[in-house]
Amino acid sequence: MFIGEGPGANEDKQGRPFVGRAGQLLDELLGEIGLSRPEVFVANVVKCRPPGNRDPQPDEIGCCEVYLREQIEGIRPKLIVLLGRFATQYFLPDAKMGESRGQPFQAGPWLILPVYHPSAALRNSNLMQTMRDDFAIIPPLLAYSERPEIAALQVGHSHGDSSSGEPAQDDDSQRSLL
Ligand code: URA
Repeated sequence: MFIGEGPGANEDKQGRPFVGRAGQLLDELLGEIGLSRPEVFVANVVKCRPPGNRDPQPDEIGCCEVYLREQIEGIRPKLIVLLGRFATQYFLPDAKMGESRGQPFQAGPWLILPVYHPSAALRNSNLMQTMRDDFAIIPPLLAYSERPEIAALQVGHSHGDSSSGEPAQDDDSQRSLL
């Protein structure tokens, strides 16, 4: 599962996530690690485009939270890749992208991986290689997540992300997942 920030103009029109330039880059990065869009679920933190494409505000994120939570709990993803700051801070409220990107964390039952937002790499081509490096972590993390003892962590949890009050952990054992 991938979680972005919120729909842009194209996404808002079509009612589908990541259909514009950021989506094309997402597809390209997925292809490089042997995945395609039909194999992943893509969601957004907020479900409508904020006016003028501004950052989503805390109350807007709060209003959409119930939908995102249902998507996560319905899918029970093996791995949640967090595209950018808003998705990352949904799980890790104090996270800074420069520090947390490319680091897997366990947030309740969910294995999460913050990465830069594709739009950031489109704006700043210096981030492109970092994004590729971070996406390269996805296949081994998926393999890790499929191990029976790890998969069992997800069974029986109906709540789990840090926004439900469980702090996401950030200790050395989490960082040594790879
Ligand atoms: N950016 C996002 O965060 N989500 C989309 O769906 C498109 C662009």
